[in-house]
Amino acid sequence: MLKLGVNIDHVATIREARYRGRGFGEPDPVAAALLCEAAGAHGITAHLREDRRHIQDRDVWALREKIKTRLNLEMANAPEIIDIAQKLKPDIVCVVPERRLEVTTEGGLDVVAAEKSLTETRKKMNDAGIEVSLFIAPDEKQIAASARTGSQFIELHTGKFAEDFLSNSRREEAQTSKYEISPSLLTSAATDYEPELQRLIAGSQQAHALGLKVNAGHGLNYENLPVLFRVPHLVELNIGHSLVSRAVFAGLDNAVREMLSLMQSYHATPAAAR
Ligand code: PXP
Repeated sequence: MLKLGVNIDHVATIREARYRGRGFGEPDPVAAALLCEAAGAHGITAHLREDRRHIQDRDVWALREKIKTRLNLEMANAPEIIDIAQKLKPDIVCVVPERRLEVTTEGGLDVVAAEKSLTETRKKMNDAGIEVSLFIAPDEKQIAASARTGSQFIELHTGKFAEDFLSNSRREEAQTSKYEISPSLLTSAATDYEPELQRLIAGSQQAHALGLKVNAGHGLNYENLPVLFRVPHLVELNIGHSLVSRAVFAGLDNAVREMLSLMQSYHATPAAAR
């Protein structure tokens, strides 16, 4: 069964917009995490960024204490955060690249360039009983390097797929719209999601063959998931923004339940191989 890890960073982003630096405030990401678990989520993901722009140290400690499912700590490969992870002992860490000017995690890790240091971090985490995942683009060299670090998981970056899917939907909408159409939308057929989807499929197959477990995340939502389901071997999806957005209208509980119900139609192996 495909698992859902709920990324609760966006709940903390709303809190920090009003209560930055106060040590308290609403909405509480830990209370949100407990609600997600009660709705059936299989794990909670939180990114303790070096700049602490959303999730704070107190949040990760409270999550560690209170949640009953798996805690996935997203983190940069940086000494301060590695140190915290060793003490916190999340079930798994997902190493992500961090650039201070980005709105959210934008690109995948360059594992080829940082193979030695990521291997050291992987060892430190595994020695502390923590599994390791590397957040990477579906690139052959990055996947091969990820396997060489000895990591247990990769998380395939689905951001480009999500963007291409969006361009595709907007083009289709524009073509059937009776309103004025932006010419750039009509000529953007090259942004169709199929090439990136093929890269994700090939990447997942390669990783699976190398013994890596495969997660995916970034930009996934209720519309693009059924298409993403063509990617085989997925173990867990990490989803945040679309769940929190849906929660504004439907409540977090319903948002999580709807996503889980959608995820039931996923098959990790293609129909022909079943
Ligand atoms: N996975 C990783 C590694 C991420 O950095 C993020 C974004 O914080 C997500 C998943 C979730 O992305 P989204 O909020 O777009 O669902």
